[in-house]
Amino acid sequence: MTNEALGESRPGTKGHAGWTREQASRIKRTDDTVAPIVYPPETDQIPEVHIWDTWFLRNRDGTLATVDGYRVCFSLTAPSDLLPGKRHDVATIRCFYSDDGRNWNNAGPVFEDALGQRQWAGSALHDDDGSVYLFYTAAGEEGADDLTYAQRIVGAGGGSIDTTDGFDLSGPWTHHELLQPDGDRYEREDQSRGMIYTFRDPWFFEDPATGETWLLFEANTPVPEGSDACGGDAALQEFNGSVGVARSPTGDPLAWDLEDPLLDAVGVNQELERPHIVYRDGLYYLFISSHLHTFAPGLEGFDALYGLVAEDLQGEYVPLNESGLVATNPENAPFQSYSWMAFPHGDEVLVQSFFNYYDFDGDTLDEIAHMPESEQMRRFGGSLGPTLRLNVEGSRTRIIGTLGHWHIPLDGEELPPTDRELIRRGKR
Ligand code: FRU
Repeated sequence: MTNEALGESRPGTKGHAGWTREQASRIKRTDDTVAPIVYPPETDQIPEVHIWDTWFLRNRDGTLATVDGYRVCFSLTAPSDLLPGKRHDVATIRCFYSDDGRNWNNAGPVFEDALGQRQWAGSALHDDDGSVYLFYTAAGEEGADDLTYAQRIVGAGGGSIDTTDGFDLSGPWTHHELLQPDGDRYEREDQSRGMIYTFRDPWFFEDPATGETWLLFEANTPVPEGSDACGGDAALQEFNGSVGVARSPTGDPLAWDLEDPLLDAVGVNQELERPHIVYRDGLYYLFISSHLHTFAPGLEGFDALYGLVAEDLQGEYVPLNESGLVATNPENAPFQSYSWMAFPHGDEVLVQSFFNYYDFDGDTLDEIAHMPESEQMRRFGGSLGPTLRLNVEGSRTRIIGTLGHWHIPLDGEELPPTDRELIRRGKR
């Protein structure tokens, strides 16, 4: 298959690809990639908890699900009186629902008996028969005395939604360990040479072109000591992020076989977080979130949404906008959003993220961690941020506007004209 839309940057279709240092060295803020500044919302919709990584209940075909008129999402959450930096240690998945895509209600914690000491990010499937599956990361070994950083990919089946009397998501859930790193294609904890390894953030994807069923996840590529990767430079080899993938031969959401990674970034970046695909015009747009502090020495990146595009799911990905940068925070608020998740809406691609640290223009998040606790608390958003609107054509993207905090439009909802459209029509 070829696609003219990609023009000169048209990728090949064979073999898994890398995000190269050369490509990443082109990362810079531009008008098309910097999101507007975010201010706190007038009211916090869910004041009792802090919210960060969030994912929507989706249908097998990748569209957001509407269940009897409800949009449904899942978030990592922690009590809002906990210091924000401690939230990853107690993360719990809660469910939220909305009948207008703007006002959200707390349906409470999803599980009583999840695997792991705490749960990290994932995805959720509303299957054709109405049943609900949650994919998540079991972080830490349950039963261990101390907090540990082992990560396993888990699938929970048995969920269903009942709307006869409001909204109710319930089990009984069964939790299945789906995947562990094999030490060959995917690094295990004991092979890790630098920052904490990653094996997390499962994301369900049924390929509309082939009907095949996939689970993407964040991982690392093993780089043994003495390897000649990155010219043998050990300091670069420690940064070995990858986008992993497993395939379900039958489409069963609870039975997966590991396959080679879709992409790796050895010598470039340690964390290719929350990988996900938007399929559009016959192309596979692979999006990831990453941090300023996880780029390898000699590269400068931002906390940002990055993306690459290929003609096949397992094809050769080329970076969007030449560097991979799709959406980042303004220079004077470099940590205002994180953990972006893109999804299609009509002609546009919308991007949701959480409202992170604001009123802070420091260079690293470490600076926040050394502030008095009251300042750390005051500067943390801990809720869903404004939704970004993206124009996507071939290997180019452009931020064209925003919707409000927590605004996730309902199916077919017409979006207001963007500022650019109003200017063009002479109304601004
Ligand atoms: C991104 C992330 C995810 C992980 C979660 C843990 O914000 O690092 O990769 O699942 O946060 O809180």
